[in-house]
Amino acid sequence: MEKFSKPTIITIPKIADPRGNLSVIQQNDTVPFPIARVFYLYDVPADSSRGGHAHHRDNQFMIAMAGSFDVVLDNGREKRRYTLNRPYQGLLIPPGFWRTMDNFSAGSVCVVITDNPYDESDYIREYEEFVATSDPETHPF
Ligand code: TYD
Repeated sequence: MEKFSKPTIITIPKIADPRGNLSVIQQNDTVPFPIARVFYLYDVPADSSRGGHAHHRDNQFMIAMAGSFDVVLDNGREKRRYTLNRPYQGLLIPPGFWRTMDNFSAGSVCVVITDNPYDESDYIREYEEFVATSDPETHPF
């Protein structure tokens, strides 16, 4: 599989219709990887922070399917904050980026599509370990 090292906002195709819009995410197309897993966060309290980890291998595509929230990415040297607030836009998060999600609006739903089944050994959960092992040169913004 091709390697993607830059976080990217991807526009999801929208089929606009007065009866209601339709958007579709296809593997190896809308998202540049095969889809293995979908998980979602909901009923998130307004002051809650989620994430707080990086991944060794997992590519993730994150969408505010309803409402809005912010994603802070960190490559071990610099941080960027992204606001997700459209069901037809998502943030591609390659491995090697520490991520934190906050500022959830009431009723927001955060959907994450990934290219691997859940595997706890793919997580880096200690920030000090992440900074010590991160490589900002190969994970630029
Ligand atoms: P975690 O990935 O830390 O949540 P977030 O980054 O969204 O704040 O996962 C929280 C818990 O859920 C943790 O105990 C692992 C479990 N989990 C699964 O069992 N399968 C999954 O696919 C995911 C994403 C998490």
